[in-house]
Amino acid sequence: MSKVERNIVLIGFMGAGKTTVGKELSRILGLRFVDLDQAIEEEASQTIQTIFKTEGESGFRKRERSLFHKLSKQSDIIFSLGGGAFLQEEIQATCLNDSLVIFLDIDFSIWSERIPLLQKDRPLLQQKSLEEMKELYTSRKQSYSKAHLIIQTGRLTPPQTAEKIAKTIHHAKA
Ligand code: S3P
Repeated sequence: MSKVERNIVLIGFMGAGKTTVGKELSRILGLRFVDLDQAIEEEASQTIQTIFKTEGESGFRKRERSLFHKLSKQSDIIFSLGGGAFLQEEIQATCLNDSLVIFLDIDFSIWSERIPLLQKDRPLLQQKSLEEMKELYTSRKQSYSKAHLIIQTGRLTPPQTAEKIAKTIHHAKA
């Protein structure tokens, strides 16, 4: 990573594979991995679902902002952000200023095959129709597309996606 790029930040929709890809990438590049959602759960000693229930989405977003602000002061980390984090202006500005932001772009049709696995612990997917999920997906894409690098995940496995990212970063530097 160059001096201006303090960290790598993986962004994208819920269930795009950010956490699994991030872990693989951290192995390939030899950098520390931090999953922001997991860090929030550890700090709060509560699950994200409980935080949403007791503090609402705004309480969760506040925790997301303040923990990212604290953790992003460190360097040489690969962060995986929850799907809504990058929509927060403060987080987005910090990421775009001093990190390499990578959007894991998954087609909606491929994504929708994962809904049964995702719905259980994603408060924002509960009681939503397929059409409403697609609206959320589409409305977020514009923000995600501000990333420095967009990786089409297609039907790649997480290790293949991580390899693709590592190669792209390597070529960009060569
Ligand atoms: C959210 C995505 C989740 C988690 C929370 C809210 C969102 O993370 O942060 O449920 O707003 O898209 P994943 O993207 O890892 O599922």
